[in-house]
Amino acid sequence: MKVLVITTQSSTDLRLIPDNSIDYVFVDPPFGRNLQYSELNQIWEAWLRIRTQRMHEAVMDSSCKKGVLEYSHIMRKVFSELCRVLKPGHWMSIAFHNSSNAVWMGIQEALLSAGFVVADVRTLDKERQSYKQIRQGTVKQDLVISAYRPNDGLEERFQIESATEEGVWDFVRSHLKQLPVFVSSDGHGEVIAERQNYLLFDRMVAFHVQRGVSVPLSAAEFYAGLEQRFPTRDGMYFLPNQAADYDKKRMTVRAILQLQIFVSDEASAIQWLKQQLTKKPQTAGELNPQFMQEIGAWQKNERLLELDELLEQNYLRYDGKGEMPSQIHSYLSTNFKELRNLSKDNESLRSKAKDRWYVPDPNKASDLEKLRERTLLHEFSEYRESKQKRLKVFRFEAVRAGFKKAWQERDYTTIITVAGKIPENILQEDPKLLMWYDQALTRKGEE
Ligand SMILES: C[S@@+](CC[C@H](N)C(=O)[O-])C[C@H]1O[C@@H](n2cnc3c(N)ncnc32)[C@H](O)[C@@H]1O
Repeated sequence: MKVLVITTQSSTDLRLIPDNSIDYVFVDPPFGRNLQYSELNQIWEAWLRIRTQRMHEAVMDSSCKKGVLEYSHIMRKVFSELCRVLKPGHWMSIAFHNSSNAVWMGIQEALLSAGFVVADVRTLDKERQSYKQIRQGTVKQDLVISAYRPNDGLEERFQIESATEEGVWDFVRSHLKQLPVFVSSDGHGEVIAERQNYLLFDRMVAFHVQRGVSVPLSAAEFYAGLEQRFPTRDGMYFLPNQAADYDKKRMTVRAILQLQIFVSDEASAIQWLKQQLTKKPQTAGELNPQFMQEIGAWQKNERLLELDELLEQNYLRYDGKGEMPSQIHSYLSTNFKELRNLSKDNESLRSKAKDRWYVPDPNKASDLEKLRERTLLHEFSEYRESKQKRLKVFRFEAVRAGFKKAWQERDYTTIITVAGKIPENILQEDPKLLMWYDQALTRKGEE
């Protein structure tokens, strides 16, 4: 027997609904300050004799002194209730229009801290009724966020495994299990952004941080571990049975569309370089004109990095001596007829390979990462010591690295101090900075 129930109350308190009882949640929350629903509804409310309790209304409204923090706080309560009533392993879709980045970040932060794991964000083209995966960053469009409540006893196991490598892989397995295996449109397959190593890393970190558990692996260690444990296809990671399924479906499409990366800061520049160098190991001279074209939309508060600096801190250059990296060897021998079937120590091959930059394989990336982290942390300590009240232009990656380290060391004061020097809108619009800052405030309050 199907039962339909309609109730009216604030979603911040759904005590009429038992825990773990709902199969699926669709929620269409207010988008910050777009519409003042209760005000607009005054006529109907007077007629119906039901009044909105404005205290719980999730809107930004200066007349009630509700800003983005108050809005996010209410949304967090709503999502906590929705997480409680949803069955573990089940999904929630959230319709959203991100007219403001700060509101958008507030929503994401609220979702994560309520216990959800975000698995996909797509734009919704209302006219064509189609969904498109969000490639990068934030766009001002209608969005559908898909999030799930972790299942299979992950939360319980995680309490025992927390801060261990096993806990990390347990999370990744359970996350990969939830993600779509194959997405196609117009005869082309798509790269599922969430299955890429750096997004899996971000989700894993967020999962730990939201539960107050330190993250036991660095990014490079995580990438190397992923490579060992999970089959990869087209730059994405799968569970073994998913990879078999992917292979079957991949044969039905012409090609896989690569994600287009827009360079707007250091982090996206690193991803863009990785894409270029994976396709073709090349010299800085070859890369430079393309790089210059890409950086037109560089974030104005982010220190602009030179191409050389980016290359040196993230990639490796073959100096023409010693063993040639296999990435370069295979590129040259597949793309140049005259270089085919030559051994790695052949002189003409070597001179063609010299000075080309390449992506280190995951096992070797760890040393590079340590060096880079040292540079970032050094920059971060300058920000902390700086007498400047506000940092106008700085390196976001340095602040992210510094916040991460301070958080692991429970040094919440450092996070709060440096956060105070960062322009408010930057802090509210950067999901990673906001995550550490939010956590630092909560933990500091608990001390
Ligand atoms: C974007 S609209 C949803 C529109 C709806 N999907 C429709 O098609 O009519 C957001 C709604 O959330 C309601 N709302 C705001 N705060 C709420 C809260 N704490 N609990 C439940 N609903 C709330 C607003 O009154 C508004 O009606």
